[in-house]
Amino acid sequence: MGENVQIVEPCNLYECYLGDEVFVGPFVEIQRGVKIGARSRIQSHSFLCELVSIGESCFIGHGVMFINDLFREGKPANGDFTKYKETKIGNRVSIGSNATILPVEICDDVVIGAGSVVTKDITKKGIYAGNPARLIRET
Ligand SMILES: CC(C)(COP(=O)(O)OP(=O)(O)OC[C@H]1O[C@@H](n2cnc3c(N)ncnc32)[C@H](O)[C@@H]1OP(=O)(O)O)[C@@H](O)C(=O)NCCC(=O)NCCS
Repeated sequence: MGENVQIVEPCNLYECYLGDEVFVGPFVEIQRGVKIGARSRIQSHSFLCELVSIGESCFIGHGVMFINDLFREGKPANGDFTKYKETKIGNRVSIGSNATILPVEICDDVVIGAGSVVTKDITKKGIYAGNPARLIRET
């Protein structure tokens, strides 16, 4: 844990890395090995599974769900770590409440609308929304 980290209990944090001035709201679960960059905020009820990394100065809204198991073989991978996929979120990314983030990469300076489902990598900054999430406005 870095300096001036703020955690509002109850939450489940398992051997994750929290940078300086990170905020974690209540009812959040962050699994093992997840990295949260400095000054990022994780709002209440979000779930960050293994293999997720979040850059610096990000805002993860309420009830944002990350996914690492795509059920590619028609069922859950059931702990077979080789089948799980990574998610990388850049810096200054804001993710609206109740969004679902499949295993993707999102570049710096992106906004994801509330309730969106991000199914593909995002490589250009801007505002994305919907299911599947698409660019709605350039910034
Ligand atoms: C995505 C977002 C940033 C877009 O804001 P905006 O640029 O002002 O967009 P607008 O409201 O002008 O909407 C533009 C279009 O996108 C659609 N849209 C906006 N937000 C959307 C969303 N979350 N999901 C799907 N479509 C959305 C609008 O219906 C509109 O569609 P239309 O052109 O067919 O009428 C905003 O709507 C949003 O979802 N913010 C997240 C806020 C949040 O979760 N905060 C958490 C802390 S409380």
